[in-house]
Amino acid sequence: MASDSQPQAPVGPEYRPATQKPKATVSTPLPHDNVHILPQTPQLIALLTMIRDTNTGRADFIFYSNRIIRLLVEEGLNHLPVVEHEITTPVGRNYAGVKFEGKICGVSIMRAGESMEQGLRDCCRSVRIGKILIQRDEETSKPKLYYDKLPEDIADRWVLLLDPMLATGGSALMAIDVLKSRGVPEEHILFLNLIASPEGAKKFADRFPKVRVVTAFVDQGLDEKNYIVPGLGDFGDRFYTM
Ligand code: URA
Repeated sequence: MASDSQPQAPVGPEYRPATQKPKATVSTPLPHDNVHILPQTPQLIALLTMIRDTNTGRADFIFYSNRIIRLLVEEGLNHLPVVEHEITTPVGRNYAGVKFEGKICGVSIMRAGESMEQGLRDCCRSVRIGKILIQRDEETSKPKLYYDKLPEDIADRWVLLLDPMLATGGSALMAIDVLKSRGVPEEHILFLNLIASPEGAKKFADRFPKVRVVTAFVDQGLDEKNYIVPGLGDFGDRFYTM
């Protein structure tokens, strides 16, 4: 059954009229300027359909997740500033191009965020990667920082923060606090994630309006256990152990 409170739209190549395109659930649009949702292309919707399907096995889940992660990283890189860079081609002509202005690093929120590291490495050779482990404190049921290992010069880098699911936002918001406490300006942080809840995205927009969130899809919401719905279940379990 289709999720009723999410938009449905015709999905297919542009040359096909809407009447000849199948309808599919597409991302909920959001009013926050700092949240960038990937274009809802037929390819993206097909990839998301694969990883959302409870019958998709681990090998396919990894393969199709990696393809979405690659799209996210490529789009994330479009948000980094560039400077003029003129080069000479092998036929002796000049080409007025650009190159990235600053240094970057990835920071994954363990464990699920580690699944996104390879996609970042595939695009940015020998990129430095830091890690943050945040878990729910059993006594207070609030997120607690257990471990972090970050590049020493992180304050001078643009940071791509990696976590596939933005549910309540508890861990990701705490990770931003950690990065800011190490001197990373809010506007130098890009948060890449596959599926976001509207609640989590709003918390980000309210608390850290200068952090750019790049997501593939905004879902309907959260269930009573704080799983994203319709979602895809536990991303870390499906990627690493199931
Ligand atoms: N983390 C997940 O892996 N899935 C959710 O639905 C929410 C958080």
